[in-house]
Amino acid sequence: MSHADDHEGTRRDFLYYATAGAGAVATGAAVWPLVNQMNPSADVRALSSIRVDVSGVEQGTQLTVKWLGKPVFIRRRTAAEIEEGRAVDLDDLIDPIARNPNISGETAATDENRTLDEAGEWLVQMGVCTHLGCVPLGDGAGEFGGWFCPCHGSHYDTAGRIRKGPAPENLHVPPAVFEDETTLLLG
Ligand code: FES
Repeated sequence: MSHADDHEGTRRDFLYYATAGAGAVATGAAVWPLVNQMNPSADVRALSSIRVDVSGVEQGTQLTVKWLGKPVFIRRRTAAEIEEGRAVDLDDLIDPIARNPNISGETAATDENRTLDEAGEWLVQMGVCTHLGCVPLGDGAGEFGGWFCPCHGSHYDTAGRIRKGPAPENLHVPPAVFEDETTLLLG
């Protein structure tokens, strides 16, 4: 059995338990990193890093995974979302900093500096409102077509930048890199 087959088997087994257990809605993409974390042979680094298979994420949809106990939103943006994000005048931003540790230095919060790929399709950010830590709603929510935190009314745009409400900072981007076309390494 190849290494890849081995993973497939693990994923199926876990999906069975997830479905039979709490009735959780789990996708293959979300489950794989959890299986990886539970592997007793996983090294220490694996505990703070997870791999996410994003091959099932269509444009205009978002996958939420848990990393270090917090939700991470992995969104594959549409051309319209990218265009909207890139058209924003930086003077209109509340927080001018990209909050993206994957690019060096304290960079401006341009749309380009918020995403992981040059085309701007992949926006990966912590699902934690920068006001008091609620989990914002996604899928075009709020007045700026991105995310909306209902706790106290913070609106984020299609690049996850705070545009209105009490939150002081853009949604934070976690350390993340594509290992290959469909595998995202978080942490
Ligand atoms: S926690 Fe999100 S607006 Fe207050």
